[in-house]
Amino acid sequence: MGRDEQPLIGESQSFLEVLDEVSRVAPLDRPVLVVGERGTGKELIAERLHFLSGRWDRPLVKLNCGAISESLLESELFGHEAGAFTDASRARQGRFELADGGSLFLDELATTSMNVQEKLLRVIEYGQYERLGSSATREVDVRLVGATNVDLPALAETGRFRADLLDRLAFDVITLPALRDRREDILPLAEHFAMRMTRELGREVFSGFSTNARDLLLNHRWPGNIRQLKNVIERAVYRHDDPEQPLSAIQFDPFESPWRPGGDRAQAQAMQPDEPLPSDLRARLDELEKRFVQRALAEHRGNQRQAAERLGLSYDQLRGIIRKHDIKVNR
Ligand SMILES: Nc1ncnc2c1ncn2[C@@H]1O[C@H](COP(=O)(O)OP(=O)(O)OP(=O)(O)O)[C@@H](O)[C@H]1O
Ligand SMILES: [Mg+2]
Repeated sequence: MGRDEQPLIGESQSFLEVLDEVSRVAPLDRPVLVVGERGTGKELIAERLHFLSGRWDRPLVKLNCGAISESLLESELFGHEAGAFTDASRARQGRFELADGGSLFLDELATTSMNVQEKLLRVIEYGQYERLGSSATREVDVRLVGATNVDLPALAETGRFRADLLDRLAFDVITLPALRDRREDILPLAEHFAMRMTRELGREVFSGFSTNARDLLLNHRWPGNIRQLKNVIERAVYRHDDPEQPLSAIQFDPFESPWRPGGDRAQAQAMQPDEPLPSDLRARLDELEKRFVQRALAEHRGNQRQAAERLGLSYDQLRGIIRKHDIKVNR
């Protein structure tokens, strides 16, 4: 699988509008801010902005501002001279320098300090900066693409993000809708990830999803968006070993187990009050039944009589449900 070839999948109206906007703004030498919940594809969009710009054959440099300490961030961005600080035995280029002529993608921009924000503003406005430990002003030509999953205007209002930097960054703001707000994309994405996983496993064909599996995918809230969908699908495909049968088992939470230590948060979410209507009520009720029984068994350490009592069932009724769903019972 080519790491650099990442097709953007999606056919919902809102996603297609995002792609249009990306194509429109890509050729302009202006900063762009990409906003969206985690896992919505901000980094992929940043890559597309770069490859559709006139800078496509120049470097695309990436840095996650949230992943490094504030003191390191400054030298990562702007570089430093030898002896600029205790560990700096040699001079080092910063990301701006490395991205000269190309694009710089700064993820998790909201976490930057006021000091760094001030320097960012200057380099965006005037293309100027200094390495740490140097007073020599350097010039660069970099197109900045920032990303964030927080509400920057709200941060700016309370003084935690520079309003002037925000204004400058927000020449164009591309907001990626959450996956739950573009349900038309769920199945195409799921198929795409399933095919890719099938190839990766060296299997011949992917047998498709069962109706029940499709419903589960369509009705999930996807708090982790596309990244979560990808993980859920890859896991399901890898566990599905019968190419004759459509894939029907979808597990949203890999930690889900009646034996999970420390309680049953996952199962507690078995039913959400605002859950969208299922298109197959029986299948959904079956799934809930299974989860409640697993939970009751876990609470009673596998004691089936107690679990049955807890659920207002006879022992035989509980045994029936356990058999029906092939629920594992440890003793
Ligand atoms: N439209 C899409 N088509 C195919 N794959 C996608 C799409 N959008 C995102 N992905 C995949 O989903 C995963 C998450 O995407 P990405 O890393 O770009 O999200 P992000 O918004 O930057 O997430 P985070 O906020 O966690 O940094 C990646 O594996 C990416 O390849
Ligand atoms: Mg990202």
